[in-house]
Amino acid sequence: MSVDWDALKAAAVSARANSYSSYSGFPVGAAALTTDGRLVTGCNIENASYGMTLCAECSLVSDLFRQGGGKLAYFACVDGNGNTLMPCGRCRQLLFEHSAPGMKLLTVSGIKDITDVLPDAFGPAQLEEHKNG
Ligand code: THU
Repeated sequence: MSVDWDALKAAAVSARANSYSSYSGFPVGAAALTTDGRLVTGCNIENASYGMTLCAECSLVSDLFRQGGGKLAYFACVDGNGNTLMPCGRCRQLLFEHSAPGMKLLTVSGIKDITDVLPDAFGPAQLEEHKNG
């Protein structure tokens, strides 16, 4: 399976149009392709209680589950100027949980693997290891 990064970025720009971000004035859009070729998208949704803000990646993962779940293969995120945005630390963890092995991200320093942006990640495998001693 391959990806058209420009098209994925364009989908992130479209999703950004629904951003609710008047507190920060920093709209974000995110888009990903699942391993079975579905497009999932998200935008940031802020809150008067600032710390409750949902990043665009959170609503993307909600969209993934609304569509019945699956694993993410390719991911892109954009800011208000259309520039590629790095997912914040919390969202790297969130994306890792739902990533297919080898998931690729469009980053400020090129195409990277999810394990490049979250090295030695803690994830479901560690919980399994603990269970099995
Ligand atoms: N934001 C995201 O949506 N994703 C990120 O990975 C980084 C930050 C949002 C949260 C907040 O609404 C705004 O950007 C400024 O931090």
